[in-house]
Amino acid sequence: MLIRPIVDSDVESVIALWTQCDLTRPWNDPVADIRRARQTASAEIFIGTEEPGALIAAVMCGHDGHRAWLYYLAVAPNRQRQGLGRAIVEHAENWLRQQGAPKIELMIRDTNRDMTQFYESVGYRTEPVITMSRWLTTPTALPYD
Ligand SMILES: CC(C)(COP(=O)(O)OP(=O)(O)OC[C@H]1O[C@@H](n2cnc3c(N)ncnc32)[C@H](O)[C@@H]1OP(=O)(O)O)[C@@H](O)C(=O)NCCC(=O)NCCS
Repeated sequence: MLIRPIVDSDVESVIALWTQCDLTRPWNDPVADIRRARQTASAEIFIGTEEPGALIAAVMCGHDGHRAWLYYLAVAPNRQRQGLGRAIVEHAENWLRQQGAPKIELMIRDTNRDMTQFYESVGYRTEPVITMSRWLTTPTALPYD
């Protein structure tokens, strides 16, 4: 798998992968999410491809000056359990380390708790914290899962 930053022509395939992996939600516009990340110097979206250019993995990452975050991690369903998730997470970690980030955090939806096992396998631990949020814009949809 070749890992590189996203370019314009990848956007449609990345959104298709995220949709296939059930990571999109009505209140998160993936086009806007990708645009904002790409406009932010301390954020990046990495994609994994294999010959002849098929997109098989993606992750969004960024450093806010205190913590680094991972979002939208996905590996194509027919390529999961082959070490690709670990590889693209390690790539994001190396990039975030170069950004000066001391620690990475991430959120897992309550409906996706099984993913804790993947993250534990690649070195993460569950933190005793509650995540809270408030919209600063009017979202297009609201139901939470
Ligand atoms: C999470 C995801 C990216 C993992 O990618 P992957 O390529 O299958 O993971 P890897 O093959 O690199 O696995 C790395 C380790 O995690 C373990 N692992 C992977 N998926 C697992 C699962 N569903 N349950 C338990 N362990 C899992 C592997 O066994 C491996 O462990 P080992 O190194 O000790 O043998 C992939 O399952 C995915 O795209 N899921 C759907 C999207 C999603 O939920 N993303 C996370 C949002 S928070």
